[in-house]
Amino acid sequence: MGAKILGIGAAVPSKLLTNADLEKMVDTSDEWIVTRTGIHERHIAPPGVEGSDLAGIAARQALEAAGVPPEEIDILLVATATPETIYPSTSCWAQPKIGLPQIPCFDIGAGCSGFIYAYIVANSLVASGAARKMLVVGAEMLTRATDWEDRNTCVLFGDGAGAIVLGPGAADDGLIASTWGADGSLANLLIQPAGGTKLQASHETVEKRLHTVHMAGNEVFRYAVKAMQQATLDVMEKAGVTADDIALFIPHQANLRIIKATAERAKFPMEKVYVSIGRYGNTSSASIPTALRDAYAEGRVKKGDLVLSAAFGAGLTWAAALFRI
Ligand code: ACO
Repeated sequence: MGAKILGIGAAVPSKLLTNADLEKMVDTSDEWIVTRTGIHERHIAPPGVEGSDLAGIAARQALEAAGVPPEEIDILLVATATPETIYPSTSCWAQPKIGLPQIPCFDIGAGCSGFIYAYIVANSLVASGAARKMLVVGAEMLTRATDWEDRNTCVLFGDGAGAIVLGPGAADDGLIASTWGADGSLANLLIQPAGGTKLQASHETVEKRLHTVHMAGNEVFRYAVKAMQQATLDVMEKAGVTADDIALFIPHQANLRIIKATAERAKFPMEKVYVSIGRYGNTSSASIPTALRDAYAEGRVKKGDLVLSAAFGAGLTWAAALFRI
């Protein structure tokens, strides 16, 4: 048995922050941001809007697209690197907003690889029969963990959520091949240092701005290119496919240069690569399902097509998945 994607949904807040806005906040320029990252604007959640609100909208949209009522969902799994509270999980906050019954709800944290990690886990649960239908959501509020005075990072991130509904399918439906991994010895390269048990919140952690993202951008960039390329090639080799067999490559949207380098190595022409970083920035776990929803809505992929996704993120983690939508 396989696990089929029954519906897709996504949500971003309406408020936009453009590169021109950022030029007024830090010493940066539209030209630098566009040439180094490919980002033109990003969506930012206003006060009062939480990750579970975006997750709720995306999930309801996916349920509606699937024609599945909330009562038929057996498990809610949310991937997030920016949980609403350390506990309860974002999935527990989202559950009543989606109108789900008292089913298991839990989060997965794997940085920007979170959505593919969650998809791999959910796929096994549905394919094994442990769950019949599942909601898998990537939901992020990265702009709440952004240091707005640090030009190295504040230009990169945006908020959003994307969701899929998984249900039982034939063996060749849904996930066909995948790979995932992590190298925790490099955890310090990309970290929100304070607020957990390692470094508890104090006046000092606030003054030193340790509750926001800290990233060794250049080192992460070099590692990201290698890991994304390797994960992409591994999955293609496992499935015995080439870029010609795949309708669309939907990579995690962290940096247009990383996307282009990965596409080139796996021999995808850019017409077969979905790029949404220009309008959303890096939305971490939300970037792949949001791009999948947009690609589907635009007719870039249709039911039955093969799609390949690859991601890289804090951990350091990586993952790739070849699936039929
Ligand atoms: N505007 C203008 N100049 C800037 C800005 C800015 N916003 N940010 C940095 N600079 C400057 C730097 O200070 C530096 O100046 P210097 O040479 O005088 O010291 C120069 O630009 C180059 O800086 P680099 O960091 O070397 O720039 P790079 O080309 O590496 O681009 C970037 C930076 C965009 C952050 C890139 O390294 C990157 O994309 N890294 C990977 C990010 C990623 O994939 N993260 C993983 C997912 S995130 C997650 O899991 C939550």
